[in-house]
Amino acid sequence: MPERKIKLTNGGKEVELSIAESTEGPAAVNISNLYKKRGYFSLDPGFVSTASCRSQITYIDGDLGLLRYRGYPIEQLAESGNHIETAYLLLNGELPTQNQLDTFAQEIRSETKIPSGSWELMQAFEKEAHPMAMLMAGLAHLASIYHSELDVFDEAYRQRMARRLIAQVPVLAALGYRYRTGQDPVDPDPELDFTSNFLHMMFGAEPDPLFSHATDILFLLHADHEQNASTSTVRLSGSSETSPVAAVAAGVATLWGPSHGGANEAVIQMLEEIHASDVSVEEYVEQTKNKESHTRLMGFGHRVYKNYDPRAKLIQKICYDLLEKHGEGNPNCPLLETAMALEQAALNDEYFVVRKLYPNVDFYSGIILRTMGIPLDMFTVIFAAARTSGWVAHWLEMMADKQFRIGRPRQLYTGHTQRDYVALDQRD
Ligand code: CMC
Repeated sequence: MPERKIKLTNGGKEVELSIAESTEGPAAVNISNLYKKRGYFSLDPGFVSTASCRSQITYIDGDLGLLRYRGYPIEQLAESGNHIETAYLLLNGELPTQNQLDTFAQEIRSETKIPSGSWELMQAFEKEAHPMAMLMAGLAHLASIYHSELDVFDEAYRQRMARRLIAQVPVLAALGYRYRTGQDPVDPDPELDFTSNFLHMMFGAEPDPLFSHATDILFLLHADHEQNASTSTVRLSGSSETSPVAAVAAGVATLWGPSHGGANEAVIQMLEEIHASDVSVEEYVEQTKNKESHTRLMGFGHRVYKNYDPRAKLIQKICYDLLEKHGEGNPNCPLLETAMALEQAALNDEYFVVRKLYPNVDFYSGIILRTMGIPLDMFTVIFAAARTSGWVAHWLEMMADKQFRIGRPRQLYTGHTQRDYVALDQRD
C-alpha cells in the first residue's frame, strides 16, 4: 500500500504527516515530527486518541466487543487453552508445541523457589496491611536480590526475568495471604499445574478441580489487555532501563486503584451494601447517574469497550457453574442475584444505553473469588498475578523494539509566566 499522508494547514503553512498503518483497527497519524516541523505539541489527556507504541500482542475492538491475544480470540483460548500456554503465546507470539510447552512450564516451575527473606519481609507488616502494599514490597525485595544480574539489553536475561516474574508474583501473593491469616508458608508443589499450585500455596491443600479450572480461566482472561494503565506504567517505567522487577512493582501500584484492578473489590463492596440496605437496585442505579454522588456503578463501563466486555460473558458463565456446585447456603448466591438484577436495571436504563456502558471483566469476577474463599482485599493481588504475563510480554516487546527510547511525554504548560520572588515578610 502506498504511504498515506495527512496535511495540516495552519497560518498559511502546511505540514505533511504520515499515517502509520495497523493490520486491524484504526491507523494512527504519526506526529513525532510535528514539534520539529511546526513547533506544536499534541494534547490528549487520558490518552483517548493517542497510541503510545506499536504492539503485536493484543487486539481489542471495543465497539464489537472483541479481544484477541496474538490473533487468537479470547473465547477460543478460554475454551481450549490454559493460562501457562497463554503466557507462552503472549511472550513468544505463537502457540507452543507440546515440547515447547513442557519446557516452558518446567522453567516456570523451577523459578517458584523464591529467594529467602521474602517471608521475613512479609512478617514486618501489620496483619491488617493491604496485600497490594505487601506485593509491592515483595517485588522491591526481589529487585534488590536480582539487581547484580541486571542487563536489560541481553535477550537471555530478559527471558529469564520474564519467567521469574510469572513464577514469583503468585508466590509473593500467597506468602502475603498466609502471613495475614496467621499461617505458615506452603512450599510450591512441583507435581501441580500452575494455577493449582497457586491455590495450593494459598490454602495448603489440594484444590477442588473446579476451583483450579475457574482460577486458570480467570488468569487467562486477565493476562493481557493491551495498553491499559498498569501495562503502560510497566512500559514507561521499563523504558528508563530499570529492573523489570521494579517496573512490574510500578504496574502493581497502578493496578491497585479502583478505576483499574481495584474495581472487583469495589464491586463486592457495592453488592454487599445494596444487599444489606433497603435501597432497591433501581434506586442504586439512579444514584450512580448523579455526578454529585461520586458513586459509579462499579464493574460497569470501560475506556475501550463500548459493547459487552467479552471477558465478562465468559466470567459470568464460570460464576454460574461455580455457584451451581457450591451454591447451597453460600453467602455469595444472594450477591449473584443482586448482580444480575443490577446488570438488567443498568442495561435497560437510558443513561447507560446512551453512554454504551456495559458490564466489564470485574462485574462477576469478585463473586467467583469470594466463592473460592479468597478475601476481598486479595482480589487485586490475584489480578496482578494473572496480569504479570501481559506486563512482561509488553516489557519484552518494548526492549526488543529497534526504536526503543525512554518514554517522556510533553505537557501544555498553563501556569504563571516568569515573576519575581517576594520576600516572606512582604507577602499578603
Ligand atoms: N457508572 C456511572 N457512570 C459512568 C460509569 C459508571 N461505572 N462509567 C462511566 N460513566 C459515565 C461517566 O460519568 C461519563 O458520563 P458523562 O458523559 O455524562 O460525563 C461517561 O459515562 C463516560 O465516562 P468516562 O469517565 O469518560 O469514561 P472513562 O473511559 O474515562 O472511564 C472507567 C472508564 C472504567 C474508569 C469508568 O467507566 C468507571 O469508572 N467504571 C467503574 C469502575 C470499573 O468498573 N473499573 C474497571 C475497569 S475494567 C478493568 C480494568 O481495566 O482494570
